[in-house]
Amino acid sequence: MIPQQVKLVDVGPRDGLQNEKQVVSPTHKIELVHRLQAAGLREIEVTSFVSPKWVPQMADNAQVMAGLERKPGVRYSVLTPNLQGFDAALPSKPDEIVVFGAASEAFSQRNINCGIEESVERFRPVVAAAHAQGIKVRCAISCALGCPYQGEVTPDEVERVVRLMKAIGVDHCGVADTIGVGTPRRVQAAMERALKHFPLAEVSGHFHDTYGQALANIYACLEMGLHTFDASVAGLGGCPYAKGATGNVATEDVLFMLNGLGIETGIDIDRLVDAAAFISNVLGRKPVSRSGNALLAKRAA
Ligand code: HMG
Ligand code: MG
Repeated sequence: MIPQQVKLVDVGPRDGLQNEKQVVSPTHKIELVHRLQAAGLREIEVTSFVSPKWVPQMADNAQVMAGLERKPGVRYSVLTPNLQGFDAALPSKPDEIVVFGAASEAFSQRNINCGIEESVERFRPVVAAAHAQGIKVRCAISCALGCPYQGEVTPDEVERVVRLMKAIGVDHCGVADTIGVGTPRRVQAAMERALKHFPLAEVSGHFHDTYGQALANIYACLEMGLHTFDASVAGLGGCPYAKGATGNVATEDVLFMLNGLGIETGIDIDRLVDAAAFISNVLGRKPVSRSGNALLAKRAA
């Protein structure tokens, strides 16, 4: 039942670097993307076209996109919360855009300044505009396993947003544990709701590792046949509107597990570890990846 191939989407340049206090130059961001594609990543979430007043770290979005030396076969995605963001993103020629909603009203308000239904109404013309340009649309459903403001979030609440996203024509449904509180059976229950409306190949998991549950949760998803996961090089990440949320599960950790399971990803772990060391060096700290650090220590020995 466990898939033989898995697609990892590295969201580090966006989810990771949106959350850094220090300024990371566009040159370093571009080099990170180049190192990720050199390591074999085939999908990279590069940046977001959101308000620079809300997330100043992503204000260099167009510059970063323009500086990429694109590798054939690699898909570059960006976040676009509204038509203004989509119009700004279009000249950068993203392969995929991401509209991001939430399963919790409170988080929706804090993250994108409107309620769930209104957010989906804002996404509707974005989806139509993207499709008119032949661009694929993924959605992220934040707080699918818990919310920093509301607390518990039920599978019914997740399915409500899944339905709304499906109704406006979103192609792919990303189920996100923004604050990393999900555990395997609860994650499976949320995923089941997404799978009622989207096919296996169009559902993915996005797990922040705040409570150390992300690998177990990914394994639980593999048991269901899911084969697309977001992860973040060096374990970078967090959401500025979810206090206390730490990084995404590190891509190196997921890859080490998948390699051990004999699952093919096309990613070279050594080059990925190099990419993690590179960005961590820029940030002046160690990667937050157990596997990555172990491999670096082994190299140094
Ligand atoms: P708003 O204030 O309601 O928007 O913000 P508005 O339409 O009323 O416009 C107000 C101002 O924002 C105007 O500028 C607009 O031009 C500007 P002013 O006239 O005041 O100078 N504006 C924009 N500027 C640039 N790009 C845009 C844009 N839209 C409006 N696209 C908005 C609504 C969504 C824009 C705002 O709330 C925002 O930018 N929020 C940022 C949210 C964000 O980036 N969060 C982090 C990413 S989500 C995440 O990390 C979760 C995820 O990883 C999954 C998970 O882990 O859960 C995906
Ligand atoms: Mg996230």
